[in-house]
Amino acid sequence: MTKRVYNFNAGPSTMPLAALERAQAELLDFQGTGMSIMEHSHRAKHYEAVHDEAIKLITELLAVPDTHQVLFMTGGASAQFAILPMNLRTDEHAGDYIITGTWAEKAYQEAKIVGKPSVAWDGKKGEIWDSLPKQSDLKLSANAPYVHFTTNNTIMGTQFFDFPDSGNVPLVADMSSDIMWRPIDVSKFGMIYAGAQKNIGPAGVTVVIIRKDLIEKGRKDVAKAFRYSEVAKNNSLQNTIPTFPVYMIRNVLAVVKEEGGLAATEKKNRKKGEILYAAVDGSGGFYRCPVE
Ligand SMILES: Cc1ncc(COP(=O)(O)O)c(C=O)c1O
Repeated sequence: MTKRVYNFNAGPSTMPLAALERAQAELLDFQGTGMSIMEHSHRAKHYEAVHDEAIKLITELLAVPDTHQVLFMTGGASAQFAILPMNLRTDEHAGDYIITGTWAEKAYQEAKIVGKPSVAWDGKKGEIWDSLPKQSDLKLSANAPYVHFTTNNTIMGTQFFDFPDSGNVPLVADMSSDIMWRPIDVSKFGMIYAGAQKNIGPAGVTVVIIRKDLIEKGRKDVAKAFRYSEVAKNNSLQNTIPTFPVYMIRNVLAVVKEEGGLAATEKKNRKKGEILYAAVDGSGGFYRCPVE
């Protein structure tokens, strides 16, 4: 067997062996078609079945309600930093931003390019963010079109277990580094987005889960490639989508489902966390956890 290593990189991250082996087995001849899935048209039935299965698996595993739609876009989470305010800002306001790390700060800076966002909280101390706000620390604007936060600060490791309460204002979450680590209540979110490459597949495709009323309400003065309503209307097939990354999401999530879904994933992740933190705590100070 090929030698595989333990890969602790935050992303691109390790994928289940079974997902990779399935890709290997199907690479040259996808389901007897004499070509790989990458060589199929994104509008032909073989790819479409894979596409729909990937969406179905995301929907099933996260229990995405009917009020929301799953989209595939490109440009990574970084592009969503810009695409979100392009679509959902108002002329007066481009969102309240809870800044808990480098990525949240980058999202805020992108919103500033297209509109007028506000800072709801910024925990930067010196060069780092090592804590999260309490609900009472947040300065939320009544007229904000959304509240944006990052569920897991990938760089420093501060992670929200309880999500901020944005009241009637849609809550938007960058879940790039912890999407699907456990079951969540998607109905609490106006939008969730994540580059696939950390938890659910390879780089190249971004998953966006967005409430249908926000798709409708979104601005129309946005280039079609970046307009949520266009992407939604075309089931993310308005142009040639990165088919192989979507196919790999299908492979990864099929394994996740087979292994018991997100409840089983959470159990496994908590066990991994215990091993890791026990090593940190038992290292006699050699390793330190610098965050609150
Ligand atoms: C929380 C978070 N947001 C955004 C990004 C940027 O993602 P991308 O490389 O997909 O643009 C990262 C990448 O590490 C991240 O961890």
